[in-house]
Amino acid sequence: MSGKFIIFECLLQTCKALFFLFLIKGTCGHGGIMNISQPYMIQLNWRGFAFKQGAWGRYSSPFAPEKDRYWVAPLTSGRYLEYYRLHESYDDLLLFKFSKEAKWQYGDGSGVTVYNNYMYFNVYNSRDIAKLDLDRNTVVLRKPLPNAAYNNRFSYAGVTWQDMDFAVDESGLWVIYSTEDSTGNIVISKLNETSLDVLETWETKQYKPSVSNAFIVCGVLYATRTVNTRKEEIFYTYDTNTGREGRLSVIIDKMLETIQSIDYSPIDQKLYMYNDGYLVRHDLIFQPISPA
Ligand SMILES: *[C@@H]1O[C@H](CO)[C@@H](O)[C@H](O)[C@H]1NC(C)=O
Ligand SMILES: *[C@@H]1O[C@H](CO)[C@@H](O)[C@H](O)[C@H]1NC(C)=O
Repeated sequence: MSGKFIIFECLLQTCKALFFLFLIKGTCGHGGIMNISQPYMIQLNWRGFAFKQGAWGRYSSPFAPEKDRYWVAPLTSGRYLEYYRLHESYDDLLLFKFSKEAKWQYGDGSGVTVYNNYMYFNVYNSRDIAKLDLDRNTVVLRKPLPNAAYNNRFSYAGVTWQDMDFAVDESGLWVIYSTEDSTGNIVISKLNETSLDVLETWETKQYKPSVSNAFIVCGVLYATRTVNTRKEEIFYTYDTNTGREGRLSVIIDKMLETIQSIDYSPIDQKLYMYNDGYLVRHDLIFQPISPA
Protein backbone atom coordinates (compact mmCIF):
# COMPACT_ATOMS: atom_id res chain seq x y z
CA MET A 1 0.00 0.00 0.00
CA SER A 2 2.59 2.55 1.08
CA GLY A 3 4.94 1.18 -1.62
CA LYS A 4 2.37 1.93 -4.27
CA PHE A 5 1.90 5.39 -2.84
CA ILE A 6 5.63 6.12 -3.03
CA ILE A 7 5.74 5.07 -6.69
CA PHE A 8 2.73 7.26 -7.42
CA GLU A 9 4.32 10.17 -5.57
CA CYS A 10 7.59 9.69 -7.56
CA LEU A 11 5.70 9.72 -10.86
CA LEU A 12 3.93 12.89 -9.82
CA GLN A 13 7.27 14.55 -8.94
CA THR A 14 8.80 13.49 -12.29
CA CYS A 15 5.80 14.85 -14.07
CA LYS A 16 6.07 18.14 -12.19
CA ALA A 17 9.82 18.34 -12.92
CA LEU A 18 9.28 17.68 -16.63
CA PHE A 19 6.51 20.26 -16.79
CA PHE A 20 8.75 22.79 -15.03
CA LEU A 21 11.56 22.04 -17.48
CA PHE A 22 9.15 22.57 -20.35
CA LEU A 23 8.15 25.96 -18.93
CA ILE A 24 11.78 27.03 -18.48
CA LYS A 25 12.73 25.90 -21.97
CA GLY A 26 9.71 27.80 -23.23
CA THR A 27 10.15 28.88 -26.81
CA CYS A 28 13.40 26.93 -27.24
CA GLY A 29 11.60 23.60 -27.23
CA HIS A 30 12.35 23.00 -30.90
CA GLY A 31 15.10 21.56 -33.08
CA GLY A 32 16.12 24.77 -34.87
CA ILE A 33 14.97 26.57 -38.01
CA MET A 34 13.37 24.36 -40.66
CA ASN A 35 11.87 26.91 -43.03
CA ILE A 36 10.91 30.55 -43.37
CA SER A 37 7.73 32.25 -44.61
CA GLN A 38 7.38 34.54 -47.59
CA PRO A 39 8.34 38.17 -46.83
CA TYR A 40 5.60 40.41 -45.43
CA MET A 41 6.33 43.94 -46.53
CA ILE A 42 5.39 46.32 -43.75
CA GLN A 43 6.33 49.71 -45.27
CA LEU A 44 9.07 51.97 -46.57
CA ASN A 45 11.20 53.41 -43.75
CA TRP A 46 10.09 56.82 -42.42
CA ARG A 47 13.06 58.71 -43.87
CA GLY A 48 12.33 57.62 -47.41
CA PHE A 49 13.59 55.70 -50.37
CA ALA A 50 17.12 57.17 -50.27
CA PHE A 51 17.75 55.58 -46.86
CA LYS A 52 18.64 52.13 -48.09
CA GLN A 53 20.68 51.13 -45.02
CA GLY A 54 19.26 50.65 -41.55
CA ALA A 55 17.63 48.30 -39.10
CA TRP A 56 14.36 47.74 -37.29
CA GLY A 57 12.82 45.34 -34.85
CA ARG A 58 10.37 44.54 -32.12
CA TYR A 59 11.11 44.90 -28.42
CA SER A 60 9.34 45.11 -25.11
CA SER A 61 9.85 47.47 -22.27
CA PRO A 62 10.00 46.03 -18.74
CA PHE A 63 7.81 48.99 -17.73
CA ALA A 64 5.03 47.96 -20.12
CA PRO A 65 5.60 44.31 -21.01
CA GLU A 66 2.10 43.97 -22.49
CA LYS A 67 2.85 46.47 -25.29
CA ASP A 68 4.35 45.36 -28.58
CA ARG A 69 6.85 48.06 -29.34
CA TYR A 70 8.88 48.67 -32.48
CA TRP A 71 12.02 50.64 -33.27
CA VAL A 72 13.18 51.84 -36.68
CA ALA A 73 16.66 53.25 -37.39
CA PRO A 74 17.51 54.24 -40.98
CA LEU A 75 21.20 55.18 -41.28
CA THR A 76 22.40 58.59 -42.39
CA SER A 77 24.74 58.57 -45.42
CA GLY A 78 24.59 54.76 -45.42
CA ARG A 79 26.76 54.61 -42.31
CA TYR A 80 25.74 56.61 -39.26
CA LEU A 81 23.19 55.57 -36.68
CA GLU A 82 21.78 58.97 -35.87
CA TYR A 83 17.99 59.08 -35.81
CA TYR A 84 15.56 56.49 -34.55
CA ARG A 85 11.83 56.26 -33.98
CA LEU A 86 9.87 54.27 -31.42
CA HIS A 87 6.31 53.03 -31.93
CA GLU A 88 3.97 51.89 -29.16
CA SER A 89 2.04 49.35 -31.22
CA TYR A 90 1.90 47.63 -34.59
CA ASP A 91 -0.93 49.95 -35.68
CA ASP A 92 1.15 52.99 -34.73
CA LEU A 93 4.02 51.62 -36.80
CA LEU A 94 1.75 51.20 -39.83
CA LEU A 95 0.35 54.72 -39.37
CA PHE A 96 3.83 56.29 -38.89
CA LYS A 97 2.61 57.41 -35.46
CA PHE A 98 5.58 57.49 -33.11
CA SER A 99 6.00 58.03 -29.41
CA LYS A 100 9.54 59.28 -29.86
CA GLU A 101 11.83 60.52 -32.57
CA ALA A 102 15.32 61.11 -31.27
CA LYS A 103 18.85 61.74 -32.37
CA TRP A 104 22.12 60.51 -31.02
CA GLN A 105 25.57 61.10 -32.54
CA TYR A 106 26.75 58.53 -33.81
CA GLY A 107 26.70 54.81 -34.14
CA ASP A 108 28.40 52.91 -36.93
CA GLY A 109 26.42 50.61 -39.21
CA SER A 110 23.17 48.70 -39.03
CA GLY A 111 24.23 46.11 -36.43
CA VAL A 112 22.22 48.01 -33.80
CA THR A 113 19.59 46.28 -31.68
CA VAL A 114 17.15 47.06 -28.87
CA TYR A 115 16.70 44.97 -25.75
CA ASN A 116 14.56 45.88 -22.72
CA ASN A 117 14.33 49.61 -23.41
CA TYR A 118 18.02 50.03 -24.24
CA MET A 119 19.61 50.39 -27.66
CA TYR A 120 23.01 48.70 -28.18
CA PHE A 121 25.41 49.71 -30.94
CA ASN A 122 29.00 50.21 -32.10
CA VAL A 123 30.14 53.78 -31.42
CA TYR A 124 31.26 55.58 -34.59
CA ASN A 125 34.94 55.24 -35.53
CA SER A 126 35.82 53.18 -32.44
CA ARG A 127 36.00 49.72 -30.87
CA ASP A 128 33.47 50.87 -28.25
CA ILE A 129 30.04 49.48 -27.71
CA ALA A 130 27.37 51.65 -26.15
CA LYS A 131 24.12 51.28 -24.29
CA LEU A 132 21.55 54.01 -24.86
CA ASP A 133 18.61 54.50 -22.51
CA LEU A 134 15.62 54.98 -24.83
CA ASP A 135 13.54 56.79 -22.21
CA ARG A 136 16.14 59.51 -21.69
CA ASN A 137 17.99 59.24 -25.04
CA THR A 138 21.30 59.18 -23.19
CA VAL A 139 24.22 56.81 -23.37
CA VAL A 140 24.46 55.27 -19.92
CA LEU A 141 27.47 53.05 -20.61
CA ARG A 142 30.25 52.85 -23.16
CA LYS A 143 33.23 50.50 -23.22
CA PRO A 144 35.54 48.79 -25.72
CA LEU A 145 34.75 45.32 -27.01
CA PRO A 146 38.12 43.60 -26.45
CA ASN A 147 40.08 42.97 -29.70
CA ALA A 148 37.06 43.65 -31.92
CA ALA A 149 37.78 44.81 -35.46
CA TYR A 150 35.98 48.03 -36.43
CA ASN A 151 35.81 50.78 -39.10
CA ASN A 152 34.52 48.51 -41.87
CA ARG A 153 37.41 46.06 -41.46
CA PHE A 154 35.32 42.87 -41.42
CA SER A 155 31.73 43.79 -42.29
CA TYR A 156 29.26 41.52 -44.09
CA ALA A 157 29.25 40.78 -47.82
CA GLY A 158 27.37 43.57 -49.60
CA VAL A 159 26.76 45.48 -46.34
CA THR A 160 29.20 48.12 -45.08
CA TRP A 161 30.13 49.29 -41.55
CA GLN A 162 28.57 46.32 -39.78
CA ASP A 163 31.70 45.12 -37.98
CA MET A 164 29.65 44.58 -34.86
CA ASP A 165 26.22 43.03 -35.14
CA PHE A 166 24.22 42.96 -31.91
CA ALA A 167 21.66 40.19 -31.46
CA VAL A 168 18.98 39.27 -28.95
CA ASP A 169 17.71 35.76 -28.32
CA GLU A 170 15.75 33.95 -25.59
CA SER A 171 18.73 34.19 -23.21
CA GLY A 172 19.74 37.83 -23.72
CA LEU A 173 22.24 39.99 -25.54
CA TRP A 174 24.99 38.88 -27.95
CA VAL A 175 27.45 40.51 -30.33
CA ILE A 176 28.69 38.99 -33.60
CA TYR A 177 32.04 40.36 -34.85
CA SER A 178 35.60 39.49 -35.90
CA THR A 179 39.10 40.08 -34.60
CA GLU A 180 42.57 40.14 -36.20
CA ASP A 181 43.35 36.97 -34.20
CA SER A 182 40.32 35.21 -35.66
CA THR A 183 41.62 36.23 -39.13
CA GLY A 184 38.23 37.72 -39.93
CA ASN A 185 36.24 34.65 -38.92
CA ILE A 186 33.03 35.20 -36.97
CA VAL A 187 33.46 35.58 -33.21
CA ILE A 188 30.38 35.38 -30.99
CA SER A 189 30.28 36.88 -27.50
CA LYS A 190 27.56 36.72 -24.90
CA LEU A 191 27.33 40.09 -23.16
CA ASN A 192 26.20 41.08 -19.72
CA GLU A 193 23.61 43.67 -20.77
CA THR A 194 24.00 45.55 -17.48
CA SER A 195 27.78 45.96 -17.52
CA LEU A 196 28.53 45.31 -21.25
CA ASP A 197 31.22 42.87 -20.07
CA VAL A 198 31.90 39.80 -22.21
CA LEU A 199 30.63 36.71 -20.39
CA GLU A 200 31.78 34.06 -22.85
CA THR A 201 33.28 33.94 -26.37
CA TRP A 202 33.14 31.40 -29.21
CA GLU A 203 35.30 31.44 -32.35
CA THR A 204 33.84 29.97 -35.51
CA LYS A 205 35.53 28.87 -38.73
CA GLN A 206 33.28 31.00 -40.91
CA TYR A 207 34.82 34.09 -42.55
CA LYS A 208 32.58 37.04 -41.67
CA PRO A 209 32.96 39.08 -44.89
CA SER A 210 31.75 36.08 -46.90
CA VAL A 211 28.36 35.91 -45.17
CA SER A 212 25.64 38.47 -45.87
CA ASN A 213 24.18 38.60 -42.34
CA ALA A 214 23.65 36.65 -39.13
CA PHE A 215 21.30 36.32 -36.16
CA ILE A 216 20.96 34.13 -33.07
CA VAL A 217 18.03 31.92 -32.01
CA CYS A 218 18.23 29.87 -28.78
CA GLY A 219 22.01 30.22 -28.64
CA VAL A 220 22.49 29.09 -32.25
CA LEU A 221 24.05 31.49 -34.75
CA TYR A 222 22.52 31.37 -38.22
CA ALA A 223 24.42 32.97 -41.12
CA THR A 224 23.05 33.87 -44.53
CA ARG A 225 24.59 34.23 -47.98
CA THR A 226 23.37 35.77 -51.20
CA VAL A 227 22.19 33.32 -53.87
CA ASN A 228 21.01 35.94 -56.38
CA THR A 229 19.12 39.26 -56.47
CA ARG A 230 15.85 37.59 -55.34
CA LYS A 231 17.08 34.86 -53.00
CA GLU A 232 19.16 34.59 -49.86
CA GLU A 233 20.07 31.34 -48.09
CA ILE A 234 20.52 30.47 -44.42
CA PHE A 235 23.46 28.12 -44.93
CA TYR A 236 25.57 27.99 -41.78
CA THR A 237 24.99 27.41 -38.07
CA TYR A 238 27.14 27.58 -34.97
CA ASP A 239 25.62 26.18 -31.80
CA THR A 240 27.11 27.86 -28.73
CA ASN A 241 25.42 25.24 -26.54
CA THR A 242 27.60 22.48 -28.04
CA GLY A 243 30.37 24.37 -29.88
CA ARG A 244 29.38 22.61 -33.11
CA GLU A 245 29.12 24.03 -36.61
CA GLY A 246 26.48 22.89 -39.06
CA ARG A 247 25.16 23.35 -42.59
CA LEU A 248 21.62 23.81 -43.77
CA SER A 249 19.78 25.28 -46.73
CA VAL A 250 16.75 27.46 -46.05
CA ILE A 251 15.94 29.83 -48.91
CA ILE A 252 14.72 33.34 -48.07
CA ASP A 253 12.77 35.10 -50.83
CA LYS A 254 13.56 38.80 -50.88
CA MET A 255 11.89 41.78 -52.55
CA LEU A 256 14.97 43.87 -53.19
CA GLU A 257 18.61 42.99 -53.67
CA THR A 258 20.31 43.65 -50.34
CA ILE A 259 19.25 42.68 -46.85
CA GLN A 260 20.97 45.34 -44.78
CA SER A 261 20.16 43.81 -41.40
CA ILE A 262 18.34 40.92 -39.78
CA ASP A 263 16.97 41.18 -36.24
CA TYR A 264 15.39 38.21 -34.50
CA SER A 265 12.76 38.91 -31.85
CA PRO A 266 12.38 36.22 -29.19
CA ILE A 267 9.02 37.81 -28.27
CA ASP A 268 7.27 36.59 -31.42
CA GLN A 269 10.03 34.44 -32.97
CA LYS A 270 9.99 36.47 -36.19
CA LEU A 271 12.80 37.95 -38.29
CA TYR A 272 12.82 41.70 -38.91
CA MET A 273 14.77 42.61 -42.03
CA TYR A 274 15.71 45.98 -43.47
CA ASN A 275 15.67 45.33 -47.20
CA ASP A 276 17.11 48.29 -49.15
CA GLY A 277 14.98 50.77 -47.20
CA TYR A 278 11.88 48.60 -46.76
CA LEU A 279 10.76 47.06 -43.47
CA VAL A 280 10.08 43.38 -44.05
CA ARG A 281 9.12 40.58 -41.66
CA HIS A 282 9.29 36.78 -41.91
CA ASP A 283 7.86 33.99 -39.76
CA LEU A 284 10.16 31.13 -38.83
CA ILE A 285 9.12 27.50 -38.97
CA PHE A 286 10.94 25.32 -36.46
CA GLN A 287 11.87 21.67 -36.53
CA PRO A 288 9.84 19.78 -33.93
CA ILE A 289 12.04 18.09 -31.33
CA SER A 290 12.43 14.44 -32.18
CA PRO A 291 11.71 12.19 -29.20
CA ALA A 292 15.09 10.79 -28.13
C1 LIG B 1 9.28 26.60 -47.16
O1 LIG B 1 8.45 27.74 -47.18
C2 LIG B 1 8.16 28.20 -48.49
C3 LIG B 1 7.44 29.52 -48.34
O2 LIG B 1 6.31 29.42 -47.51
C4 LIG B 1 7.37 27.15 -49.24
O3 LIG B 1 7.09 27.60 -50.54
C5 LIG B 1 8.21 25.87 -49.31
O4 LIG B 1 7.48 24.84 -49.91
C6 LIG B 1 8.66 25.44 -47.90
N1 LIG B 1 9.63 24.36 -48.03
C7 LIG B 1 9.60 23.26 -47.29
C8 LIG B 1 10.69 22.28 -47.53
O5 LIG B 1 8.72 23.06 -46.46
C1 LIG C 1 26.26 41.58 -14.85
O1 LIG C 1 26.77 42.78 -14.37
C2 LIG C 1 26.14 43.23 -13.17
C3 LIG C 1 26.69 44.64 -12.86
O2 LIG C 1 28.09 44.66 -12.86
C4 LIG C 1 26.41 42.23 -12.05
O3 LIG C 1 25.77 42.65 -10.86
C5 LIG C 1 25.87 40.87 -12.49
O4 LIG C 1 26.17 39.89 -11.53
C6 LIG C 1 26.46 40.46 -13.83
N1 LIG C 1 25.80 39.25 -14.31
C7 LIG C 1 26.48 38.19 -14.73
C8 LIG C 1 25.66 37.05 -15.22
O5 LIG C 1 27.69 38.15 -14.75
